[in-house]
Amino acid sequence: MNENDLKLVRAIEDDERYEHTLGCVATAEKLAQRYGEDVDMAKTAACYHDITRRMDRKSQLKILKKYGIIVDRSEATGPALLHAVTAAALAEHDYGLSPEIVSAIRWHTTGKPNMSKLDKIIWLADYIEPGRDFRGVDDVRNVAYDDLDKAMIIALTRSVDHLKKLGNAVCPKTAETLKYLLDTQKDHTLE
Ligand SMILES: [Fe+2]
Ligand SMILES: [Fe+2]
Repeated sequence: MNENDLKLVRAIEDDERYEHTLGCVATAEKLAQRYGEDVDMAKTAACYHDITRRMDRKSQLKILKKYGIIVDRSEATGPALLHAVTAAALAEHDYGLSPEIVSAIRWHTTGKPNMSKLDKIIWLADYIEPGRDFRGVDDVRNVAYDDLDKAMIIALTRSVDHLKKLGNAVCPKTAETLKYLLDTQKDHTLE
């Protein structure tokens, strides 16, 4: 990631979103250092992860059509999930970023089973960057530098509980991600 990447994103994002992006870049850098991940890849993924977050739905659907991307119904409904798909598409096709970075952007909202270390770092950086301020975020911050999986389990459990309490549907991919992480933790304790 260099100045040009930041400039490009700065030209697209509003002040609030850009500040969030900078927070993610800084957090992704620290997490990458902590876990021996490629720091530049982590910063680049964080830089581009929300590039389509404020894009209108019509333009997002155009991106899907242009690149022949099919999304399932749960992802196509709201901008909250759609932007991860379209940002990943632009990262791949317009900005020529590596498959590892594209994957981290693609899964930064819902997660997925069997995520790479970089996927998890970007997912968590998005969740705990310094601008985030909601109940429970410090619990995740406290664990994020000790155990990526545990931090994700705390965050995902909180998200799923929160959605259920509101009577909202839980994205199937998010539920699958949590289940996968819980199952792999169980396997470790059995070893
Ligand atoms: Fe996002
Ligand atoms: Fe984000």
